[in-house]
Amino acid sequence: MSETNKTESAPEAAIPHQASAPGEREVLLKVEGLQKHFPIKKGILQRQVAAVKAVDGIDFEVRKGETLGVVGESGCGKSTMGRVITRLQDPTGGSIHFEGQDITKLSTGKMRPLRRDIQMIFQDPYGSLNPRHTIGSIVSAPFRLQGVEPEGGVKKEVQRLLELVGLSPEHYNRYPHEFSGGQRQRIGIARALALKPKLVVADEPVSALDVSIQAQVVNLMDDLQQELGLTYVIIAHDLSVVRHVSDRVAVMYLGKIVEFADSSKLYESPMHPYTKALMSAVPVPDPKRRGQKNERILLRGDVPSPIAPPSGCRFHTRCWKATQICKTTEPPLLELRPGQRVACHHPENFADQAPQDVVLLSAAKEAVDLVGSAVLAEEAKQAQASAAAETASEEPAAAAEETVTAEETVSAEETVSAEETVAENQESTDK
Ligand SMILES: Nc1ncnc2c1ncn2[C@@H]1O[C@H](COP(=O)(O)OP(=O)(O)OP(=O)(O)O)[C@@H](O)[C@H]1O
Ligand code: SF4
Ligand SMILES: [Mg+2]
Repeated sequence: MSETNKTESAPEAAIPHQASAPGEREVLLKVEGLQKHFPIKKGILQRQVAAVKAVDGIDFEVRKGETLGVVGESGCGKSTMGRVITRLQDPTGGSIHFEGQDITKLSTGKMRPLRRDIQMIFQDPYGSLNPRHTIGSIVSAPFRLQGVEPEGGVKKEVQRLLELVGLSPEHYNRYPHEFSGGQRQRIGIARALALKPKLVVADEPVSALDVSIQAQVVNLMDDLQQELGLTYVIIAHDLSVVRHVSDRVAVMYLGKIVEFADSSKLYESPMHPYTKALMSAVPVPDPKRRGQKNERILLRGDVPSPIAPPSGCRFHTRCWKATQICKTTEPPLLELRPGQRVACHHPENFADQAPQDVVLLSAAKEAVDLVGSAVLAEEAKQAQASAAAETASEEPAAAAEETVTAEETVSAEETVSAEETVAENQESTDK
């Protein structure tokens, strides 16, 4: 996590925080081509008729000691990704390596020792604590399940953990209903940290809490990371939650990662149009900008169904920059700038690169070349097969600059012209 204003303090240190820069740190978790499809079955024979492609081929790595933020709209597969990388659910395809070990297909028994190292914090601090168990029993559960006897006994260790998360050791015999939402989330954090995990996946850890309490819990997690050398994957709905705590951010859309970048780069100049749209929804508390018209990009329509995602770039049905190539060819996730991977045929903030940034320019050209030949082949095939059907009226996006018209891409009520949005200043209206 980056530096934040801290309102909490953690009394005891266990493992010193790593001093190396995020980019130099060792990879803790590596995910390649990860898929999780939920089958849809019908009929007496329960035959599979389709599948919900919740996670559909994602690649990323988490480095030791870093915080990776994962953001995206509801239903884009964030929680599923979290449950699969912690092996609470089995992946459909791809691989997961933890500390170099392939854990993709480990059985429950073989995963048990690794459960100590990989923990999850859940979104709902009310539903995730058993109301009939005392706090002592809840936080000591990991010791019982793993058969671990801490030095000084379980009770002493649980009381130490309660203190570590800012609660009192006297809370040991109390029940969850006696605590507020923020306190319950602290109990959930104490339980997750009981066995000194190496990786903590937190699925929307503060979204159920009041805004004032959110900052306290986020700061507590930040403090604990510094003191215990933790690695976090923090899942959130919107960029404002992960903005100040993430070293890197993965933006997900419909089961795919569309941008993966160092936090500062993502916030300074997002390259994927979807990231740019998400960013425009985050309020900027900047007094210098007070009184200025707020730039807001409004996405048209809902997220398409993950059962039958759109062809090519999955965002093309909502993107104001979509062209024919976006419909036919899936853009690969490429490093267009050092520390910034983007899956887009027409990335944002690209034309204004400094002239010395030859690497970036050639990387982007490579992206175009990569898809260019595939598109030409695809177009030639299509032209042969259905030349008559491919009329200009059916394919308005192929016309002129191949730019989808404003009417197609932007909400009718909050119309933003394509020219305005393509222009660097994104003079989108916010009526
Ligand atoms: N067990 C399941 N069976 C079938 N479909 C599922 C299952 N779990 C999730 N899905 C589907 O997978 C897709 C992704 O769900 P997921 O919960 O991962 O999204 P999310 O990004 O976490 O959303 P939210 O922000 O609302 O929590 C959704 O369409 C969801 O309906
Ligand atoms: S410009 Fe094309 S590739 Fe890029 S996000 Fe929009 S639709 Fe996808
Ligand atoms: Mg979720």
